[in-house]
Amino acid sequence: MSNNVLSGKRGVIFGALDEKSIAWKVAEQCVAEGAKITLTNAPVALRFGGIHDLAKKLNTEVIPADATSIEDLENLFTKSQEILGGKLDFVLHSIGMSINVRKKREYTDIKYDWMQKTFDISAISFHKTMQTLWKMDAMNDWGSILALTYIAAQRTFPDYNEMAESKSLLESFARSFGYHYGTRNNVRVNTISQSPTMTTAGSGVKGFQEFFDYADKMSPLGNAPADSCAEYCVSLFSDYTRCVTMQNLYHDGGFSNMGMNPAALGL
Ligand SMILES: NC(=O)c1ccc[n+]([C@@H]2O[C@H](COP(=O)([O-])OP(=O)(O)OC[C@H]3O[C@@H](n4cnc5c(N)ncnc54)[C@H](O)[C@@H]3O)[C@@H](O)[C@H]2O)c1
Repeated sequence: MSNNVLSGKRGVIFGALDEKSIAWKVAEQCVAEGAKITLTNAPVALRFGGIHDLAKKLNTEVIPADATSIEDLENLFTKSQEILGGKLDFVLHSIGMSINVRKKREYTDIKYDWMQKTFDISAISFHKTMQTLWKMDAMNDWGSILALTYIAAQRTFPDYNEMAESKSLLESFARSFGYHYGTRNNVRVNTISQSPTMTTAGSGVKGFQEFFDYADKMSPLGNAPADSCAEYCVSLFSDYTRCVTMQNLYHDGGFSNMGMNPAALGL
């Protein structure tokens, strides 16, 4: 189903690693809705993932960029504007990685230089992305910038470890930068707080399958799948949401407003 709601728009999608990635689905749906996009990921991820297959399918280009490197980001936005033929209308930040989780360090035994790296990759990269776009004046007025987040920013999910603080920081950057970008260019900045989703980043969290099942039972609509998340992203890139900014928007089948669901207790 396509309604061409992104017709004529240009965008950059970070974070499509393989076909399970949320960003992969977003890229597919943006193109189906009429947008022209470029894809990007960290140079190391380009070697392992399938992003080149996606680029071929969508008839677009991949521009490598480590999202923690300002130089890479400048190159990404310069090349994207050249390829797409003008300033950008939307950007998706779909990046998350915790070194302490990957190395199986408990929250009470954190290695702090890894934590700083985690914050840099998972949250500060969002500020770097926006600051680079801002300084290059690379966004069209009334554009839309989005990042993906998780409810562990507000509530405690013990195995989410230092990613909880990463997401709190990420969401705060959306509010603070949203003020500046809205005032100068009417550009909106939001985060979507997505249900647990079976992807490489998601399934790296300890006990993910059990937690996925629990959240599915707690949510009246069940866990929101990645395809629906992509549709929500499209709506936030479209002109139908021009006055939505500085928000953390739950896309979670109702999970965030539940206290207890008998289904989760097997009743
Ligand atoms: N999967 C879930 O359960 C879930 C739930 C809520 C929010 N999210 C968020 O959604 C986003 C996308 O994750 P996903 O679940 O699709 O998993 P994913 O593993 O497919 O995507 C994560 C991406 O981050 C990229 N990345 C890592 N380091 C990078 C760097 N230095 N520079 C550029 N890119 C880098 C990876 O290469 C990968 O493409 C993340 O922000 C994640 O926290 C995921």
